[in-house]
Amino acid sequence: MIHTNVDLQPFNTFGLSCKAKRFATFSNSQDLTDILSERNNDELLVLGGGSNILLTQDFNGLVIKNEITGFEVIEENDETVLVESGAGEVWHEFVMRCIEEGFGGIENLSLIPGSVGASPMQNIGAYGVEIKDTFDSLQAYHIASGEVHTFNHEQCEFGYRESVFKRALKGKYIILSVRFRLTKNHKLNTSYGAIETELQSMGVENPTIKDVSKAVINIRSSKLPDPKKIGNAGSFFKNPVVEQAIVDAISQKYQQFPQYPAPNGKTKLAAGWLIEQAGWKGKDFGTYGVHKNQALVLVNYGGSKGADIFELAQQIIQDVKSKFGIVLEREVNMI
Ligand code: FAD
Ligand code: EPU
Repeated sequence: MIHTNVDLQPFNTFGLSCKAKRFATFSNSQDLTDILSERNNDELLVLGGGSNILLTQDFNGLVIKNEITGFEVIEENDETVLVESGAGEVWHEFVMRCIEEGFGGIENLSLIPGSVGASPMQNIGAYGVEIKDTFDSLQAYHIASGEVHTFNHEQCEFGYRESVFKRALKGKYIILSVRFRLTKNHKLNTSYGAIETELQSMGVENPTIKDVSKAVINIRSSKLPDPKKIGNAGSFFKNPVVEQAIVDAISQKYQQFPQYPAPNGKTKLAAGWLIEQAGWKGKDFGTYGVHKNQALVLVNYGGSKGADIFELAQQIIQDVKSKFGIVLEREVNMI
């Protein structure tokens, strides 16, 4: 059933109040076909958990929210297991279920908000792991034809916070289900120093996937604002990947700053550090601002408008550009 004039506030983690002209939920591809037959050339917005979007104005089109459920073991051997999840499942609940079943590989991605179906969109990542490391394939509904197509790893063209669905195929497909190849004999990834430190303070010597998940949850809870309390969409910008000349220029002024090796001799810098150095950390504009503990996170304290947050992001981009010669790219999807 298609509803009209629906407030999207409960459906985005920024907690922004914007109206959708029309709104429907879908639980399978037949629902999609039925709903899209009534699309009438309306602009379309596919919604998962709404944790990576900024609604800058009312949406004068059709919003469709993914509620496809399902958890299935497709195949299994002594070492690995192929698991399929419905795209509308909550990502964190999927991770928890896999850990309970003893399936490893995504424990570092605990507590990332949103749906399983959105996870390939930007190849979600945290604490040294990205979904591309365990991704097997996905099924997606081709909006123009109504056909369901399968995408393998290569076809998704994953990169840092990137996939083909954000680029060449943007707006063309709706992801229905995702398969992951998980492990039974786990190779834990505790390369992020913070995980080791947290495991130590938890008193854990021989960590399990459950311990690593718990450590990640503890670290994330201490750093990132809980969207249930303060509206946000996680990192608003991507960490920039820059040429050596930029690194050299920053080194002239700062003895130490976070930097990580990136492909092709480039360096990844921490956008949060750049924004903090530019003086924006903790800036409070009443109803919105820059988070006090993590400058990469823009927040809605309640009652702000997406357009205000968009404008704040533009100012930060300008300022970081003038101070460091680096143009920050938004991670959050503008609607
Ligand atoms: P939405 O916000 O609903 O949608 C995001 C985009 O994907 C939109 O363009 C939407 O149209 C499209 N889309 C959604 N579902 C589908 C589908 N089934 N088919 C086609 N298109 C679709 N991200 C990370 O990578 N790492 C982190 O550590 C991380 N931490 C976060 C912490 C917090 C507190 C918050 C609020 C966000 C964080 N994020 C992080 C960002 C966010 O959680 C992820 O991007 C997540 O995958 C978004 O899922 P969603 O279902 O909420 O997507
Ligand atoms: N930093 C500052 N000031 C700040 C914030 C960070 O100096 O205000 C410094 C930190 O001290 C650290 C470095 O920047 O040296 C990196 O900070 P952090 O470890 O908090 O990670 P991040 O780079 O800010 C990225 C991802 C997160 C992911 C974490 C953990 C991006 C854009 N963000 O954040 O993903 O959870 O690493 O792996 O890549 C998201 O995408 O929404 C997200 C939250």
